[in-house]
Amino acid sequence: MLSMQDFSCHNLRTTRLWLNSCDIILVMHVVSIDQFDTKLLKEIFDQADNFQKLLDDKDSKKKLSEKHSGKQICTLFYEPSTRTRLSFETAALKLGIGVVSTESAGQFSSASKGETIEDTMQVLNQYGFDAIIIRHPETGAVKRAANVSQTPVINAGDGKGEHPTQALLDAYTIRKEFGRLDNLRIVMGGDLKYGRTVRSLARLLSQYPNNHIIFVSIPKLMMDQDIKNLLTSSGTTFEESTNLEQALSDSNVVYWTRLQKERLEKPGDFDSAGFDLIKESIKNLPLDAIILHPLPRVDEIAVEIDSDPRAKYFQQAGNGLYIRMALLDKIAGES
Ligand code: CP
Repeated sequence: MLSMQDFSCHNLRTTRLWLNSCDIILVMHVVSIDQFDTKLLKEIFDQADNFQKLLDDKDSKKKLSEKHSGKQICTLFYEPSTRTRLSFETAALKLGIGVVSTESAGQFSSASKGETIEDTMQVLNQYGFDAIIIRHPETGAVKRAANVSQTPVINAGDGKGEHPTQALLDAYTIRKEFGRLDNLRIVMGGDLKYGRTVRSLARLLSQYPNNHIIFVSIPKLMMDQDIKNLLTSSGTTFEESTNLEQALSDSNVVYWTRLQKERLEKPGDFDSAGFDLIKESIKNLPLDAIILHPLPRVDEIAVEIDSDPRAKYFQQAGNGLYIRMALLDKIAGES
C-alpha cells in the first residue's frame, strides 16, 4: 500500500513511502513549498550565499566542482523551460554532479507512446539517480511521481499547482534586497489564477509575520480561494485590487507575472492578464521597492523598465543557480 504524508527528517519535511506493512523508506522529495519551514529556508538561503561567494574564488570553485562527484541527477521536463532546467543542470555541474536530461519529454520520451509517469518513475528508479527533477503540465503529476519513487523527486513546476524552487529563489532575492522576509507589503499581479509561482510564493511568505499581500488582477484571473484561505489561517493579511497605481504606492515588492496562455482553454478570451507595467504605471512606486518577475516576460513589463534600478528580475533569475545548488547539495549530501 502506498501512502504519503509529511514527515520531519533532517529538517526537511520528507514524504513517507510505505512499501509494505513493515518497510518504511524516507525519501527527500520536494513537492511543495510547504515542506520548508523558516529554519530550513534560512539554512538554504545561507548556503546559497555561501555558494555564490565560493564561485567567485577560483580555487574554491574548483574544489566545489568535485564536491559531489560520482552523483547524478536526471532532468525530466514535459513542459518547456529555460531558467529552471538550465539552472538546475548548471547547479549540478558546478557541484560535480552529472546530468542526464530529456527536454520536451512529452514528445521525446515514451510518454508519447502512452507510458504513465508512474511507470517512467519505476524505470528511472533502476538507474541509480540521486534526484529526478520533473516539470509536468498536469497539476499533481509530480506528487504522483514522488509517490512511487524511492529516488528523491523535485517539483520543477506542475501545471497551475506549485513551483517550489521558484519560490525559494524569489524569497531569496527578497531577503538579499531587504535583509528580511517579514513586515513587507507585496503586490502580486498579473495572472494569479493560472500562475503557479505566485501560489508557491504566497504560501512561503505566509510563514513570516506581518506581511501584507495585495493581489492585482482582473476578476477572472484573481487568486484562487485555497491560497486566500491559507493566508487567512496563517494570519497573513491580503486584499484584492484593480487599482494598480494605488497598490504600488506603498509597496516593498512588486511581483509581476505573465498570462499563462498555455493553461487557458480559450487563450483568445484574454489579450493579457489585464495590467502591464510601464514607466508611467510605476511612477508612484517607492524608490527602495523592487520589481520581480519569474520570467519569461512577454509584454506585461515594458522593456523601458529594465534600466530602472528597482527592476531585479534578471538578478532574480541568476539567484536560481545558487538556490538550486544549495538544494541539490542538501539532497546529494543525504543520498
Ligand atoms: N521561471 C521559470 O520557471 O522559468 P522557465 O519556464 O524558463 O523554467
